[in-house]
Amino acid sequence: MSAAWWQEGVIYQVYPRSFQDTDGDGVGDLKGIEARLDYLVDLGVDAIWISPIYPSPMADFGYDVADYCDVDPRFGTLAEFDRLLAAAHDKNIRVLLDFVPNHSSSRHLWFLASKSSRTNPKRDWYIWRDPAPGGGPPNNWISDFGGSAWEWDESTGQYYLHAFLKEQPDLNWRNPAVREAMYDVLRFWFARGVDGFRIDVLWHLIKAEGLPDNPPNPAYHAGMGEMHRVQQLHSTDQPEVLAIAEEMRKIADSCGERVLIGEIYLPLERLMHYYGRDVAGVHLPFNFQLLEAPWKAEVLARMIAEYEAALPSGGWPNWVLGNHDRPRIAARIGEAQARVAAVLLLTLRGTPTIYYGDELGLGHVEIPAAWVQDPRELREPGLGLGRDPVRTPMPWDATPNGGFSTAVPWLPLCSDFADRNVARLEQVPGSMLTLYRQLLALRRAHSALSIGTFALLDASSAAPDVLAYERRHGDERLLIALNLGSTPRELALPAWAHDARRLLSTVESGDSRFGSGTETGTRVVLGADEGLVLAPSFAPEV
Ligand code: GLC
Repeated sequence: MSAAWWQEGVIYQVYPRSFQDTDGDGVGDLKGIEARLDYLVDLGVDAIWISPIYPSPMADFGYDVADYCDVDPRFGTLAEFDRLLAAAHDKNIRVLLDFVPNHSSSRHLWFLASKSSRTNPKRDWYIWRDPAPGGGPPNNWISDFGGSAWEWDESTGQYYLHAFLKEQPDLNWRNPAVREAMYDVLRFWFARGVDGFRIDVLWHLIKAEGLPDNPPNPAYHAGMGEMHRVQQLHSTDQPEVLAIAEEMRKIADSCGERVLIGEIYLPLERLMHYYGRDVAGVHLPFNFQLLEAPWKAEVLARMIAEYEAALPSGGWPNWVLGNHDRPRIAARIGEAQARVAAVLLLTLRGTPTIYYGDELGLGHVEIPAAWVQDPRELREPGLGLGRDPVRTPMPWDATPNGGFSTAVPWLPLCSDFADRNVARLEQVPGSMLTLYRQLLALRRAHSALSIGTFALLDASSAAPDVLAYERRHGDERLLIALNLGSTPRELALPAWAHDARRLLSTVESGDSRFGSGTETGTRVVLGADEGLVLAPSFAPEV
């Protein structure tokens, strides 16, 4: 069986507010993405996922949708979306949209109707409840952004549920009319030609019948974010959600080769359920383990092995190194190791998702207090939960505002954008951008890296701090060796990789004893922070 595009391909997440502004309002737009398609082609990615572009009051920067079938004027028009999609397809780039089914904006017409009276036909489209017997919210559920998950509505005398902001009321997915309306949204965009969706907070859609209190979390401590006060046992991850994933999958499959990716933050064994029975759920339940894993060879080795072992038969793996909600990889592990992480992301088995700007090594961007935009930070300040630092404008060149906009951008650029920008980094041989391009080219040239099998190198031959594994497809066999530490390490090579050639190193000239391209012998020395891709010397040059 040949691999589907979403198995072989690499996805790139575009945060549209911050990619490229063309109309001078300091916020990115669809025309801007279109203008930068050639950059994505040169980078070598296969698909983009664009975070929400729908009309929105922007209480949660687009994750509060006021109309699922249109484009917010800040981003452009439906016609401009169609143009972007056609231009992307011309260049062989697929386009995924962000589907936000758990909640709408409180300004969506559905919610306005629902809120207008207890007898409105849309009342049951959202989750309304009377106060608890003694008064106050119906149960102890806490919003992911802190505070009660219930908001009192004075005019109809009931509370409504919101897992996030009060401006994001939860839809009632137990109501078949809601399901049909939301499935029509999928059909609307599929008919326009989108290649798939990333599904926002998929595991939240269904809540336990009766909405029982969530149990307290014994591990809670201040500093975690108030949402962790309770375990989300009854408010998320209910078995009925899987039938919904399967229904969505049926719609996707009826439209040709489309992909559904579920945003799901759950422990491994729960995550795997979202592949669905007979892998008929979402194609890719996002695997977020690398976002938090301690950066240690033995921890990663165990994590990868457990993930591989837990996959259902026929379930395709995937890996994520960054997104618009979590700290940047370079901020977390430093730039030298972020290069090693790039090799890991692009050589593990499974579909990789690259977060825009990580290919430039964007690190932590300090957001002055007066600039803070993210409601997460504004509601629970100072805990480091704010997401503005990972949503800053893409630095394209060294001109004012980094070539992102002619106006003051909605968030500040990284302070080093005069050096850290696309125009400059593409000229620098050893830059992060060059490394990403090399890796993506290597991945395209060697199908072992995309669709090959995966095997960790026998732990006994691995050196401390070294994570090493093999990818194999047909006659092709490649060895990836990553030094996760800053001490040079020597690794004994398996017999098949004796005298291997270096196809790629994260360190410009590699260990001084072996320049790139030279053969290794029976052992290889990995320099500090060095990641290597090796091919047996008898393998043909590509
Ligand atoms: C998802 C999004 C996040 C958003 C939340 C509510 O986790 O990734 O950005 O705030 O859902 O929609």
